[in-house]
Amino acid sequence: MLIAIFGDIHGNIEALKTAYDAVIPLKADKIYHLGDLGGYAPFVNEVVDFLIEHKIEGVQGNYDFNVANDSEHCGCKYEDPLQAEYAQKSFEWTKLHTSEKSKEYMRKLPAEISFATNGKKVQLFHATPHKNNLYWYEERPDKFFLEMAEKTDADLMIYGHTHKPYRKDIQGKIFINAGSVGKPKDGDPRTCVAIINIMDKEIKTEFLRLTYDIEKVVQAIRESELPAYFADKLKEAR
Ligand SMILES: [Fe+2]
Repeated sequence: MLIAIFGDIHGNIEALKTAYDAVIPLKADKIYHLGDLGGYAPFVNEVVDFLIEHKIEGVQGNYDFNVANDSEHCGCKYEDPLQAEYAQKSFEWTKLHTSEKSKEYMRKLPAEISFATNGKKVQLFHATPHKNNLYWYEERPDKFFLEMAEKTDADLMIYGHTHKPYRKDIQGKIFINAGSVGKPKDGDPRTCVAIINIMDKEIKTEFLRLTYDIEKVVQAIRESELPAYFADKLKEAR
């Protein structure tokens, strides 16, 4: 089974379109998204409409839950007070500009998607099993990975939230962070899509990195009331 994974899209319709166009020729059996559909870039409703139109199923991110339920905070982590201030502005902007239809879609997203294929149990979630706002970085010790694995019976876990892609294989379990379609933070501003081929004896992973019309999104951020800070960060991929 060949699957394509769209992590953290964050209102970036241009990156999403490019990612989708790249996946179609691969004839994937299924495309999934990992939630966090709005924030930081202005095209939250366009992203939701695109996912609905192309029947791309997915899970609920912390941003989706908090936008859809009109929370006071997005449930994100900040590195400094300036980032906290801008992130709060982005969250308020997104709550205000997300349509009721999009909020309804976000509200109904499941916390996880599980299935079995070729003898492997697969689970998708936004951040970790049972907790959608914990940052699961590659640098975490193996002990943390194995503790997370104990919370599910999956052999293959697929998630996002940190916006940094990686794969780790530990004691027969496979951990794949799909990175971020719309807001990479690994220093590479190109969109990121995880392509996972689940076969009988082997699971292959590839992270596609694709250039897209980033300038169009940068300009749209600057023209909106979102902080221009996020236009800079998009280009820096930080
Ligand atoms: Fe995110």
